[in-house]
Amino acid sequence: MNELQKAISQIGVVPVIKLNHPQRDAVPLAKALCAGGVPVAEVTFRAAGAADAIRLMTEAMPDMIVGAGTVLTTAQIDEALAAGAQFIVTPGLDPELVRYCQEKHVTIFPGCTTPTDYHTAYKLGLEVLKFFPAEQSGGLSKIKAMSAPFPMFKVMPTGGVSLKNLGEYLSSPVIAACGGSYMVTADLIDNQKWDEITDLCKKSVEIVKEARNHG
Ligand code: 3PG
Repeated sequence: MNELQKAISQIGVVPVIKLNHPQRDAVPLAKALCAGGVPVAEVTFRAAGAADAIRLMTEAMPDMIVGAGTVLTTAQIDEALAAGAQFIVTPGLDPELVRYCQEKHVTIFPGCTTPTDYHTAYKLGLEVLKFFPAEQSGGLSKIKAMSAPFPMFKVMPTGGVSLKNLGEYLSSPVIAACGGSYMVTADLIDNQKWDEITDLCKKSVEIVKEARNHG
């Protein structure tokens, strides 16, 4: 793992964010996450204005690790990096996008769930993968099965992660960190429930600590 991956792994959870009103919500959301001990975010390009959100968050909280998610094209990579994104997440494994990031020395977490994905990721020299969509693809038992032929990878399961299963995922040494939207749901963000978001982050951090102490 590189330094950025180690830092993300140490935090343990990565909020996956879709912001409908970046100008209004990006900064208070970044502050709420940091206050909860989760100074990292994957801002998805599912919403227009994702680059604005990345820029606003990184300017307001320079120590926070802000990346771009749901990235589908090299143009979006350029846009995300220009806004200050420190990492790129793609839903699937596109060798073109992986190589594009590698040429720029930018960390990319491509979504992988199958032996074919993992094999391609291995040939591309990747070390940490997003395992997406995690629960729907077989969850921790599939992740463990995949690590038998591919023990070189750590993964970041995302999709269906919640406070209920976070600890179970994190207790496995294969897991670098977990991604999820449960602490940054549309309801919480649109209704500006910043304290609740901070509280959910704090609860997540407790679970990370607990899982790592007993893992
Ligand atoms: C993602 O894009 O990573 C997922 O949509 C997040 O999944 P979740 O909403 O089930 O946490």
